[in-house]
Amino acid sequence: MILHCIQARFGYLLVGLIFIAVIGLCEGGLTSSYVRSNGLSSDMPLDSDVFRVPPGYNAPQQVHITQGDHEGRGVIVSWITPNESGSNSVLYWAANNQIKKTAIGIVVKYKYYNYTSGYIHHCTIENLEYDTKYFYEIGNGDVTRQFWFVTPPRPGPDVPYTFGLIGDLGQTYDSNRTLTHYELNPMKGQTILFVGDLSYADSYPFHDNTRWDTWGRFVERNAAYQPWIWSAGNHEIDFVPEIGETKPFKPYTHRFFVPYKSSKSTSPLWYSIKRASAYIIVVSSYSAFGMYTPQYKWFTNELSKVNRTETPWLIVIMHCPMYSSYVHHYMEGETMRVMYEPWLVKYKVDVVFAGHVHAYERSERISNIAYDVVNGLCTPINDDSAPVYITIGDGGNQEGLVKEMTEPQPRYSAYREASFGHGIFDIKNRTHAYFGWHRNQDGFAVEGDSLWFHNRYWKSMGETSTAVL
Ligand SMILES: *[C@@H]1O[C@H](CO)[C@@H](O)[C@H](O)[C@H]1NC(C)=O
Ligand SMILES: *[C@@H]1O[C@H](CO)[C@@H](O)[C@H](O)[C@H]1NC(C)=O
Ligand SMILES: *[C@@H]1O[C@H](CO)[C@@H](O)[C@H](O)[C@H]1NC(C)=O
Ligand SMILES: *[C@@H]1O[C@H](CO)[C@@H](O)[C@H](O)[C@H]1NC(C)=O
Ligand SMILES: *[C@@H]1O[C@H](CO)[C@@H](O)[C@H](O)[C@H]1NC(C)=O
Ligand SMILES: [Fe+2]
Repeated sequence: MILHCIQARFGYLLVGLIFIAVIGLCEGGLTSSYVRSNGLSSDMPLDSDVFRVPPGYNAPQQVHITQGDHEGRGVIVSWITPNESGSNSVLYWAANNQIKKTAIGIVVKYKYYNYTSGYIHHCTIENLEYDTKYFYEIGNGDVTRQFWFVTPPRPGPDVPYTFGLIGDLGQTYDSNRTLTHYELNPMKGQTILFVGDLSYADSYPFHDNTRWDTWGRFVERNAAYQPWIWSAGNHEIDFVPEIGETKPFKPYTHRFFVPYKSSKSTSPLWYSIKRASAYIIVVSSYSAFGMYTPQYKWFTNELSKVNRTETPWLIVIMHCPMYSSYVHHYMEGETMRVMYEPWLVKYKVDVVFAGHVHAYERSERISNIAYDVVNGLCTPINDDSAPVYITIGDGGNQEGLVKEMTEPQPRYSAYREASFGHGIFDIKNRTHAYFGWHRNQDGFAVEGDSLWFHNRYWKSMGETSTAVL
């Protein structure tokens, strides 16, 4: 923090530096000088290699997996068969064990205006061994397809684990670059935390849902092998009463099943999971979240349930950022901030990841919870119990980057840059995690921004270190 100020304002006198150190925050962080071209990236055409339909009659396509229980011993396998329902089962076996087991799933379908979906299969495999590679097979006869995944280690405080962060992906050439960079990043993400806005099918006339199918085929190359932890963005709402589509989130909730019941949630739009040393809470920016609502009741209760001795890393993901200093979507997250920020601080959440704003930004550890309408205290202040807020809505969709920033850069904003990219949150042990942001223009290993995280809970318990923020 102090070092950062020194770097940013090395021209100041020592007296100035001491003053800055005392007030704790320098006036604004870093705005990257990196400037993107204005060219908007277009969606990849329907005949692109990434959208290819797997060969064979009724072959399973759009295969993707996510965590299937609360602890990490379950996996939900989802896929679509285009012509008929076909087999509902998943055959699976551990790589070190030839005994094959079968899990039986369900199939759903939906209509959207004049589009009819294929047969959407969801099959939950339970009671897997921790930290084990499994193969799985879906489909019938000559269109059987085989994939694999690795289960996470048993939850525990010092279990290293590496999460990837992707948001607002879409299906443009830039989206493909982001996914490729994630795949080739030597940090090797093991699970993606996806911060909402998936396919952008809603940018087509009548929300042409065939663009949901192309998106499913595009991400299969990664999502069939490692879990993507889903959260819903505004492009998942698909609410178009003019054409009779009055049920929000219809395509999203049919296509992406999540284990919400295992965290006692009543909606797939908010839920939690444990994974290795992390406790991940997904909230919905576009569902009622005020006092007395189901989400509020669940969220506030959920925070108090987290055992930081077991899972020290408390991560919250949502679509709309609470702190963003870009002009586009400015203050859209303000209502949720007012309601939820005191809880994030009280329970010492380590980091909040959001998307929505098509750029990258990282905050200082700040809070803004003192305001009570009449006292005038409405400026964020340094807060050691507060999370770092990271906006990572720079996956690459066709709406392009947002470059217009509020000026001057607010003091709470540590780093901001309008470039496409992805993030890696690499947990080392109960006290340390390393975050890196990777822009698509750079080599796979290059970090455009990075930060050592010092676990909020263990820091508050007196564990000390001078090396990190
Ligand atoms: C199976 O479904 C696909 C996609 O809808 C279609 O292109 C293909 O013609 C169908 N095959 C048969 C034999 O009906
Ligand atoms: C759905 O309706 C639109 C607009 O009338 C039309 O362009 C499109 O071809 C239709 N699609 C199907 C699958 O019927
Ligand atoms: C997408 O990226 C993959 C992997 O880099 C590449 O093989 C493929 O050709 C790309 N497709 C398009 C349409 O850019
Ligand atoms: C929290 O987790 C630790 C480690 O797994 C366990 O020993 C302890 O009993 C748990 N505490 C509660 C209150 O469940
Ligand atoms: C935790 O990880 C950090 C970073 O790798 C390391 O410096 C520290 O010594 C580790 N702590 C323990 C208790 O191993
Ligand atoms: Fe969005």
